[in-house]
Amino acid sequence: MSTVLGIDVGGSGIKGAPVELEVGDFAEPRLRIPTPEKSSPKNVAAVIGEIIDNFAESIGDGPVGVSFPAPTRHGVIPFIANLDQGWAGLNAQDYLSDKLGRAVTVVNDADAAGLGEVHFGAAKGVPGVVILTTLGTGIGTAIINDGILLPNTELGHLEIDGFDAEKRAAASVKDKKHMSYKDWATKRLQRYYEVVEMLFTPDLFVVGGGVSKDHVKFFKYLSLETPIVPATLFNRAGIIGAAWQAAWRVEHPDTVTQASAKKTAEDAIRAAGGEE
Ligand code: BGC
Repeated sequence: MSTVLGIDVGGSGIKGAPVELEVGDFAEPRLRIPTPEKSSPKNVAAVIGEIIDNFAESIGDGPVGVSFPAPTRHGVIPFIANLDQGWAGLNAQDYLSDKLGRAVTVVNDADAAGLGEVHFGAAKGVPGVVILTTLGTGIGTAIINDGILLPNTELGHLEIDGFDAEKRAAASVKDKKHMSYKDWATKRLQRYYEVVEMLFTPDLFVVGGGVSKDHVKFFKYLSLETPIVPATLFNRAGIIGAAWQAAWRVEHPDTVTQASAKKTAEDAIRAAGGEE
């Protein structure tokens, strides 16, 4: 299985491309369809279906990886900040697999970008702890240690100085407030990255999101212990990482369900001699 479809669901666009996993790049140019005004599960599934149809020839009946701007635990989206609330609490993986009639793997968008960068981009071969941050509408994060992802870290929602961090430091805030790169970096990003640095002592920061292509305009204002580099796959990272994860899942099926996870936790409590 070398060509797998990756799809990135975002607040303004849903983008997909077949990914050549041997090389970590698109096999064909990507297709972008605007996110429906009401980004409900039904409407988004219809767009994903269109993207699948468009690439049907190159992907056969293979699996599809879909990234979301939300955490995903064994297929379930517990909460979502920037899309329709119909996704919250839904097993998006089962829902989409059912609707689309093929194996769908769901993954957080920043985790997908992190997987893309770690396997094919700026963090390839980097030992130790790599933290990828995507600066866009919100802030997404992926923590990878020696190539292994710790999923759903959600450090964009760290509370810093009394604020939800992404409400202060995301690239969308810079645009909305018409801030210069210098002001944004010195007044917002510096504080964000120094808190993350203090909490996690990473070996490398990788910065993704559309704004990362302008990194020379703002990296110079950041003063951190940790080296910081731009993502090299740019806006391809999420799609490539989602496809990578879908292929990986074929070899490592996630058999955990909400019910089985609860039972395992209850067994652990019992074994430890505590209350259920
Ligand atoms: C979401 C994250 C997501 C990030 C970037 C945040 O608001 O909670 O799951 O990775 O935005 O899209």
